Amino acid sequence: MPACRVCHSPVEPFIDFGRMPLANAFPTPDQFAGEYFFELIAGYCPGCTLVQLVNQPQRERMFNDRYPFFSSSSVRMASHFRQLAREVAESYLPARDAFVVEIGSNDGTLLLPFAEAGIRHLGVEPSTSVAQAAEDRSVRTVSRFFDASLAKQIVAEQGQAHAVIAANALSHIDNLHSVVAGIKLLLAPGGVCVIEDPYWGDVVEQTAFDQIYDEHASYFTLSSVSYLFAQHDLAIVDVVPQAVHGGSLRYLIGHAGRRPVAEGVTQLLAKEQTIGLHRPETFAAFRDRVSATGAALMALLETLKRQRQRVVGYGATSKSTTTINHFGITPGLVEFISDTTPAKQGTFSPGAHIPVRSHEEFAAAYPDRALLFLWNHAAEVLAKEQAFARAGGRWIVYVPRVEEL
Ligand code: SAH
Ligand code: TMP
Ligand code: ZN
Repeated sequence: MPACRVCHSPVEPFIDFGRMPLANAFPTPDQFAGEYFFELIAGYCPGCTLVQLVNQPQRERMFNDRYPFFSSSSVRMASHFRQLAREVAESYLPARDAFVVEIGSNDGTLLLPFAEAGIRHLGVEPSTSVAQAAEDRSVRTVSRFFDASLAKQIVAEQGQAHAVIAANALSHIDNLHSVVAGIKLLLAPGGVCVIEDPYWGDVVEQTAFDQIYDEHASYFTLSSVSYLFAQHDLAIVDVVPQAVHGGSLRYLIGHAGRRPVAEGVTQLLAKEQTIGLHRPETFAAFRDRVSATGAALMALLETLKRQRQRVVGYGATSKSTTTINHFGITPGLVEFISDTTPAKQGTFSPGAHIPVRSHEEFAAAYPDRALLFLWNHAAEVLAKEQAFARAGGRWIVYVPRVEEL
């Protein structure tokens, strides 16, 4: 059995999605033959409770000059990050010469408000496609993978940071010890580190199985994050649930002993125990519900095909790669996938090769059904697609269960 990336105990696999391409690798036909596949298996570490991928593809395969996910593609996420930036600026930054570092800063969406306010900041973003977009918006960015040695360099050249932020980034990183050691070095004595990632508790509760894909190396709970940071003499001082991405947790972290620990931390640690989040039965039941979702979704798509109903996918999301390839959704069942990202349009979905087309094509001739791969942005999408519903179109969702809306 593979060793845990945090505590090196043997990891116990609990779900196998089979042969899987990279979620964001959207190929063009000339790239079909060279597509990279790996076995997508998630496992649980009984040593430190971390849920993680058993075979982790190399980071350079995923995060490079072709990385096509831009944080600014969701209006709701942009306003979520603007709010977070405001909270950090108001509560944690000194009045003079504040310094903020973001790990996984992507196209600069979260750092932009700091830049606009003239606050000293630095984004660390290895994918040059998105790092360039940040630079274009005057968000200072270094295009490197964050780790302890880069942290040392930043401290030497620019000093320690009063806030270190990583949203949906730590879950994407395999060398967690080097990254957390880097945070320890980088964080000023009274500084705060804010981590936000999808919460494994919500993935289980919602049967949000498609959160599991190559880039998501780890699936955090408060127990596993506490263990990891404690190894580096850092303490979780508060946890705040967030509705984004189908359920996330925000962890506020400080140097051990520097800040009081909120009651919510002890309460959630206890709750994770009580509900048995890490019990074998919980993992087995999750696996059974994923199979049931697959059976129901495929039956529905087959029925619609027999009835000659047009089904179009909505959102060429990373998550959709797991759904499509694990259940065996084909271009015969889903005509194309609509997506607003120019870099994805004209490409094909990884593995199954369903065409990805612009949102304009979706709006020009509404299908009978839209399969909502963007279920985590349902509120944003349903609000702006009322014309589709008025035209008689219906949504298919599959998280938490298969339903037609
Ligand atoms: N924070 C943004 C982007 C999340 S996607 C948001 O929440 O929308 C994850 C990002 O982490 C990608 O842009 C990826 O290139 C970046 N990343 C991956 N490994 C990293 C590392 N070791 N250091 C810094 N960023 C990393
Ligand atoms: P993700 O699930 O990997 O974060 O990708 C989300 C994708 O969804 C991204 O390519 C942009 C696209 N998108 C739309 O097509 N329409 C929308 O309304 C939103 C919010 C995103
Ligand atoms: Zn472990």
